[in-house]
Amino acid sequence: MNIKICISLLIAVAGLSAHADKVESLLAQMTLEEKIGQLTLLSSKWEITGPVAGKSYVDEVRSGQCGNIFNVPKAEYVRQLQKTAVEETRLGIPLLFGYDVIHGYKTIFPIPLGLASSWDMDAVERSARIAAVEAAASGITWTFAPMVDIARDPRWGRIAEGTGEDTYLSCEVAKANVRGFQGNDLSDPFTVAACMKHFAAYGAAQAGRDYHTVDMSERMLRDTYLPPFKAALDAGCVSVMTSFNEFNGVPASGNPFLLKTILRDEWKFDGVVVTDYNSINEMIAHGSAADQADAAVQALAAGVDMDMMSSAYLKQLKRLLAEGRVTIEQIDRSVRNVLRLKEKLGLFDNPYRYCDEQRERNLHCAAPHLKASREIAGKSMVLLKNEKNLLPMKTGKRIAVIGPLAKAQKDLLGTWCARGDKEMVTSVLDALIQVNGSNRVEFSEGCGVTNNDITGFAGAVAVARKSDLVVMVLGETAGMSGEAASRTSINLPGVQTELLREIKKTGKPIVLVLLNGRPLALEQEAGMADAILEAWHPGTEGGKAAADVLFGKINPSGKLPVTFPRNLGQVPIHYNMKNTGRPLAPAADKPKFQSRYIDSPNDPLYPFGFGLSYTDFQYSEITLSKSEIKPDETLTASVTVSNTGKIDGEEVVQMYIRDLVGSVTRPVKELKGFNKIFLKAGESQTVTFSIGEKELTFLRRDMTWGVEPGYFDLFIGTNSRDVQSSSFSIH
Ligand code: NOJ
Repeated sequence: MNIKICISLLIAVAGLSAHADKVESLLAQMTLEEKIGQLTLLSSKWEITGPVAGKSYVDEVRSGQCGNIFNVPKAEYVRQLQKTAVEETRLGIPLLFGYDVIHGYKTIFPIPLGLASSWDMDAVERSARIAAVEAAASGITWTFAPMVDIARDPRWGRIAEGTGEDTYLSCEVAKANVRGFQGNDLSDPFTVAACMKHFAAYGAAQAGRDYHTVDMSERMLRDTYLPPFKAALDAGCVSVMTSFNEFNGVPASGNPFLLKTILRDEWKFDGVVVTDYNSINEMIAHGSAADQADAAVQALAAGVDMDMMSSAYLKQLKRLLAEGRVTIEQIDRSVRNVLRLKEKLGLFDNPYRYCDEQRERNLHCAAPHLKASREIAGKSMVLLKNEKNLLPMKTGKRIAVIGPLAKAQKDLLGTWCARGDKEMVTSVLDALIQVNGSNRVEFSEGCGVTNNDITGFAGAVAVARKSDLVVMVLGETAGMSGEAASRTSINLPGVQTELLREIKKTGKPIVLVLLNGRPLALEQEAGMADAILEAWHPGTEGGKAAADVLFGKINPSGKLPVTFPRNLGQVPIHYNMKNTGRPLAPAADKPKFQSRYIDSPNDPLYPFGFGLSYTDFQYSEITLSKSEIKPDETLTASVTVSNTGKIDGEEVVQMYIRDLVGSVTRPVKELKGFNKIFLKAGESQTVTFSIGEKELTFLRRDMTWGVEPGYFDLFIGTNSRDVQSSSFSIH
């Protein structure tokens, strides 16, 4: 070892032990009350994100009862509370400031489902980095993101907050988010601590109803729902939030199997475990705790460090310790975890490093941030249909802009839009006017988003008649997805489909722009619109980005991270389902006694991974480096992708695998790699994927991970349905 390395190692070790010393010396001085305060997280009254209202906790901070606070999104306010903690409490321990920075802080990016649609991990990372930079300027040290819950039920409103149905894609997005939020150094005042959530299986709420029961096999949990958490953890995520649901009959916030066996023992997680809002108290309603004291005992025993908004630790732990129902070791363990996070964030060195009014003024919605928001929103939009190349539109035509969301500003920000400012949003209508000129754009609302009033139809039809082309902006309001916003229908709400039907009768070409937070059942709409652009809730610059795509300044490259069913009856539907013992034969004539519906096809309207471009991509056949390998060997699979159209564009090349026979059955396809490439018109590129243990390992019958010899199908293509195929074997 050379001398330089020796010295840096010594410095690193000294640094580590200085950190440990600080935490241990504080712990040694703390009273029980002060310890309990560090395990308590309360919400200010600035923003209410749960059923128990917050207040101004200055007195609780001063008395040391509240060691952490959230929903305080302003540097000045943060500074004031931090000053109280640092200058007026006995030990001066700084507060953590948490906030839901989900897809941007002031500059808002597309909702996470939209970000996932970009399949562009640099873009995801960049959006999280900008969110962190803006939030940190306001004093936020800790974001309650990323949400890494797999979601396969579009009724569930929180599908908007995640990355869709697929485990592999969700793992990649989870890692990119953690990298973006945390950077390389948590004490850097331009980063924030990430918190992966909701641990675990929250996305599988029965019937898509938020907070509902989850009943899932351990195999499904480990195989499908947990890997994105593990990926976030491997990327360095320092905290985790428990979920509202039960798993195996035990609410997550008191579930030792989830929080101890898996998280701490198997994964060796040594960060902070925080509950979701009031969820220790909710163990009483779940029917797993008799009272708050019982709930607190279960939560602490399971390994919950911090209690968000239940005040159960605050009210109960002292008495519980005296009664011997909890131990001081349990309390100290959790206090250590919290103090260590504060230490990592550099708060003991400078408790004010994150709140900086000057930075707040300079960085919030800074020009490069807005530019990134526009660019990334463009990348997240998915072109679902484009008959006769109606898009991109040419300027100079008379455009009728119709629909209840055409003028929307707030709705473009979507759910959980932090401090996003609707006044900064350019609506789709205004963005189209900016490009095409106000004299060639005429607007009619036609109807509302949710009501059944059709009196505006006639006016909209009249406007459509005068135009060369109609752009309809339909969908859901921001409040129709996100937390506590489940729906029993995934159709366009209100009379929007009827409005489309009326406009269709004019015979004008129709471009449908959708603003929504979940997959919708669009069979009727797809039959009427000539082009469909899924724009999601695209953020601060989303209106302009939609115009960029519609007029061809951006060639769309988004791909669905979640299946769009034909109808709600097909749900749950995802591309990676099992084959069953009676799979539907492809061209079966009278498919009785096969796994199918009698009133609907099995296949979705738009499959996972689907998205069109203004150019055409052609795929060569797959070339394999070998067709047979040993279990510990790797092979490569290559395709040459050619841009055969006239426009430059990006394509997401997707690689799927099917393990044909296993000790347990495997899905008909599983995404195991993707590569987003840019090709100039006429250009070709060979894309190569490596396939080895990482891609082929799965949870075997004995619940261990590994590769099993046998035969495999391999698919590479433009979406989960349209693929080239090949096969290989392992012996
Ligand atoms: C409840 C939500 O489930 C969670 O995602 C969020 O972080 C907390 N409220 C705090 O607002």
